[in-house]
Amino acid sequence: LAAAPVGEKKVLLAAPRGYCAGVDRAVIAVEKALEHYGPPVYVRKQIVHNLHVVSTLEAKGAIFVDETDEVPEGALVVFSAHGVSPAVVQSAEDRGLRTIDATCPLVTKVHKEAQRFARDDFDILLIGHEGHEEVEGTAGEAPDHIQIVNGPEDVDKVQVRDPERLIWLSQTTLSVDETMLTVNLLKQRFPTLQDPPSDDICYATSNRQAAIKKIAPQTDLVIVVGSANSSNSVRLVEVALEYGAKAAHRVDFANEVDESWFEGVATVGISSGASVPENLVQDVLRLLAEYGYGQVEEVVTAQEDIIFSLPKEIRAALKAMG
Ligand code: F3S
Repeated sequence: LAAAPVGEKKVLLAAPRGYCAGVDRAVIAVEKALEHYGPPVYVRKQIVHNLHVVSTLEAKGAIFVDETDEVPEGALVVFSAHGVSPAVVQSAEDRGLRTIDATCPLVTKVHKEAQRFARDDFDILLIGHEGHEEVEGTAGEAPDHIQIVNGPEDVDKVQVRDPERLIWLSQTTLSVDETMLTVNLLKQRFPTLQDPPSDDICYATSNRQAAIKKIAPQTDLVIVVGSANSSNSVRLVEVALEYGAKAAHRVDFANEVDESWFEGVATVGISSGASVPENLVQDVLRLLAEYGYGQVEEVVTAQEDIIFSLPKEIRAALKAMG
């Protein structure tokens, strides 16, 4: 291994990184439901897109299902942070399920925008990844009014009824830069396209991307901790490469870090997606210290102090307990 001299080896640790307020709230909601009602607590889809979080909750008695029809009648089901369409809520109600809605309030905000603009008979261009749970949930608010635009490659396919009544919305966890590229291309085709009332890409997504942009140009290698189905984690890898990291990899766990990545590497950048507990990052840092990258400098580009109150069903249950 052509190692960099030890004195030059260091880690730039991006901040903010890891858990956002919506993930924190959703995970606590499942934990509190387990404590209060006892297992099993069913959860529709992964509560947040992180393998470790899901397996930890499974060990405590959570049962993850794909659809509500897998939940026994009358049982308790938690809807994940990514949100659900009205059809899913209805099907849970039809089956007599008790529900706790852990949808992130910032996803709910986008649902409300979709409802409002559909009511006003706008065509809505939802920029996001087809098949992602959040996009399915948001699109389900107004299937007749919403078209999904995956990215710049979809712009030419868009069909609109009236360009004067046209708005774009987006998934909360996209690349800020790529979304603006898509929007600019859409506006070339439809100059009257309206912007959302406020940013749909959430504070956590944009802050984590801003932090990685700051460190990427100074790094030889970036490691992002996060799961493969975590949109915002995958975007962090892409953004690191776009902003000058010589190489970038995503890992779920420290044991996926490959020693061969460090050949000739002096500076390693580290970040983690919004669904990633900090202990997984600390595991990677410990491993890096073993490889000689024990000097860690945290690069802080924003302070986050957002906290969301727990889902109302949990608050009511806890209050009833006194
Ligand atoms: Fe919510 Fe953004 Fe986290 S939408 S769940 S705060 S990544």
